[in-house]
Amino acid sequence: MWPDRYPGRMPRPEELLFPTRKERFEDRRKEREHRKLAGEFFDHPTLLAVSRLISQGQFESLEFPISTGKEGGVFRATGPGGFRAVKVYRIGNAIFRRLPPHALEDLRREASVRNYARLVYAWTRREYTTLGRLYDAHVRVPQPYGFLRNVLVMEFIGVGGLPCPRVRDAVIPDPTVFYADLTEQMHRMTVEAKLVHGDLSPYNVLLGEDGRAVLIDVASSVATDHPQAAGLLRRDTAHFARFLKKLGIDTSPEELFARAGGNELPHGG
Ligand SMILES: Nc1ncnc2c1ncn2[C@@H]1O[C@H](COP(=O)(O)OP(=O)(O)OP(=O)(O)O)[C@@H](O)[C@H]1O
Ligand SMILES: [Mg+2]
Repeated sequence: MWPDRYPGRMPRPEELLFPTRKERFEDRRKEREHRKLAGEFFDHPTLLAVSRLISQGQFESLEFPISTGKEGGVFRATGPGGFRAVKVYRIGNAIFRRLPPHALEDLRREASVRNYARLVYAWTRREYTTLGRLYDAHVRVPQPYGFLRNVLVMEFIGVGGLPCPRVRDAVIPDPTVFYADLTEQMHRMTVEAKLVHGDLSPYNVLLGEDGRAVLIDVASSVATDHPQAAGLLRRDTAHFARFLKKLGIDTSPEELFARAGGNELPHGG
């Protein structure tokens, strides 16, 4: 069981105590990365938001990043009665890469476009309220628990402490079951919650523990009476149809659009 850097012999105790050059190098690289991550995400106002949310009892402590990107990161947190997921949006202009034109229109009412912080706060609130609306309509999304400024607290979608994979990276045990479930979620989203996701792709759907779909990253959603709703649903369904075909499902963008409730949109399909 000894690492093979001691070929054919037991390591001497002092060799076990002191890390090798390679290990020291690797540790330094990791430390640098962590420090960078901490510095980039957790500026002073963000830390205050985190501590306020903790004192509200939203969660107890942040543990480690599940995912980090240019616009923000998602962290696992310990919370009352299990884990929670905490999404932190980075304050800065990176948010613009994310903002689809239809959303910018709405956000501009809440914040001046040059005030990045306010834009990011409005975007976070938008994700929170959209999650709530979907959750109430029984669409499978993480339950939203709370938010403050650029920090959103939601249900942790995972099994045994490990986050569920994105369907993009997962082996889907039964594509037919998954397909039936996905179309049901999408239909519920359109018809019950009266929303179109607007950024639906295999990257923004997690494979839940029962092999069914959990929709995430919902801030780009628009109401179904928005003039662009049908166009956005067409785009969402076209992306997904391609992916489903690769899984061996016999579908087309038109069929997926219809099954997702596209023909029931107020402005037609
Ligand atoms: N509630 C959750 N429970 C478990 N994992 C989650 C949850 N929300 C998000 N994740 C993980 O974090 C990743 C990023 O989340 P999300 O798609 O919401 O953010 P994003 O801003 O699009 O980030 P990215 O640009 O990295 O996709 C997801 O792909 C997923 O792996
Ligand atoms: Mg995403």
